[in-house]
Amino acid sequence: MSTVLTKIDGPVGIATLNRPEALNALNNELLDALADALEGWDSDPDVRVMIVTGSQKAFAAGADIKEMAPKSFSQMHAENPFGRQMDRVLRIKKPIIAAVAGFALGGGCELAMALDILIAADTAKFGQPEITLGVMPGLGGSQRTPLAMGKAKAMDLCLTGRMMDAAEAEAAGVAARVVPAEMLMDEALKAARKIAAQSLPAVMMIKEAINRAYEMPLSQGLAFERRAFHALFSTHDQKEGMAAFAEKRKAAFRNE
Ligand code: CAA
Repeated sequence: MSTVLTKIDGPVGIATLNRPEALNALNNELLDALADALEGWDSDPDVRVMIVTGSQKAFAAGADIKEMAPKSFSQMHAENPFGRQMDRVLRIKKPIIAAVAGFALGGGCELAMALDILIAADTAKFGQPEITLGVMPGLGGSQRTPLAMGKAKAMDLCLTGRMMDAAEAEAAGVAARVVPAEMLMDEALKAARKIAAQSLPAVMMIKEAINRAYEMPLSQGLAFERRAFHALFSTHDQKEGMAAFAEKRKAAFRNE
């Protein structure tokens, strides 16, 4: 059985992490399969939005502790396990929704935070417990937690290894919204279809511009946004979207 199940629902590619025996712990096989699926959809014109999800019990309970336990520094450095696939995921241009129920710990929390919109079930539990293993977050946790929630809460989470529930994660800016567990996939699909109905070039520009907010000073981010905004005036969809508004009809975007 594949460690990542893939399915296409209209314009939405859905990747379900599937290692139930290990609470979806992220090993190299699973992360290779995930990066392959997302890259495939990124270059498939029929897919415009992606969802990554897990099971009701676990989105992912971290990087696979058993796989990395025997590694030396030089092996981790040379092989860059987990990190090399995460770098591929970060290069995906189309938006990715993380639909999170149950445990999202360590690398699982880091993967969910690295995606674009995190929708949490009310059963979700987030945490960076690496400290309890004698290590530290290695897939972005020490950087994305302070960006999302500020230094005090990030230190609390990463230094104590405690878990936070979905309500706390929403208040901390990690989850965009919290929904009842039984509604998780319906809500994620609803959001995905809403995004898929928009113009894809504008959607991808917005994703890129928001991600740049974390990478560059405000003045450069604003300059990038201005140029991207202007560039969208070269698309069919800008003319169509604005004409449809004036004519009081629904826009028929062609994603070009
Ligand atoms: N790696 C490997 N196996 C894991 C795992 C992980 N991260 N998390 C769970 N499993 C395995 C367990 O070993 C167990 O396998 P066996 O049945 O063969 O013993 C199975 O999944 C079920 O887990 P539990 O019996 O522990 O389930 P539970 O409901 O009692 O506890 C849990 C759930 C609290 C999430 C607990 O499994 C746990 O603490 N997991 C580890 C969480 C963790 O420390 N994650 C961080 C990993 S390090 C990391 O991610 C580094 C990084 O930043 C890149």
